[in-house]
Amino acid sequence: MNLVTFGASYSVTSINRAWAAAVGKRILELTGKEGNIHSLDLNKYDLPLYTVEREAQIGLPEPAKWFVDDLAQADLIVVSLAEYNGSYTAGFKNLFDWASRVELKFFQNKPVVVTSTAPGPRGGLTVLQTAADRFPRHGASQVVVGPALPGFKTHFDLASGRLTSDEWQQALDQSLQPLLESI
Ligand SMILES: Cc1cc2nc3c(=O)[nH]c(=O)nc-3n(C[C@H](O)[C@H](O)[C@H](O)COP(=O)(O)O)c2cc1C
Repeated sequence: MNLVTFGASYSVTSINRAWAAAVGKRILELTGKEGNIHSLDLNKYDLPLYTVEREAQIGLPEPAKWFVDDLAQADLIVVSLAEYNGSYTAGFKNLFDWASRVELKFFQNKPVVVTSTAPGPRGGLTVLQTAADRFPRHGASQVVVGPALPGFKTHFDLASGRLTSDEWQQALDQSLQPLLESI
């Protein structure tokens, strides 16, 4: 099983990238299946700000096509949403807009696990709900909603890539049940 994971952020030190990869690892553990995790760094997809005039001028940039091609390699996609001011980060929304011009249904009929994390107490819950509502319109065959993990530094150990909280481990495992029943 090929998992593609990414944090919806252009931060070089994105906590959501680390969290998405950890969720991917947990899915493989729970299924007991062999698999590969390809953790995308959005900085690979360097894109100008989307405008309709720019698209008319330059067409569809290669990095937007690479993103859609990289998603095509997945059997399962894990996205962890970073939240800026209650919404998507501008960088991810820009990539999202370009990708939707390459292929409106850019998730290409694959199951998508959506989750989020933040240093703060809501863990990015607002943007998580936005994405959970929106992603089926972009070709996610199934959207499995994982936790909005708050207090990232308190509940997650970056060195081991693991949760340090039993409560959040249970919340994650429980949220993945619908996925485990369908794959
Ligand atoms: C401009 C800006 C706005 C932010 N707004 C929110 C917010 O609305 N909710 C939240 O939980 N965290 C907010 N944060 C904190 C982010 O959750 C934090 O920077 C987190 O590390 C972003 O995820 P990333 O490391 O994956 O990029 C904001 C951070 C910045 C820089």
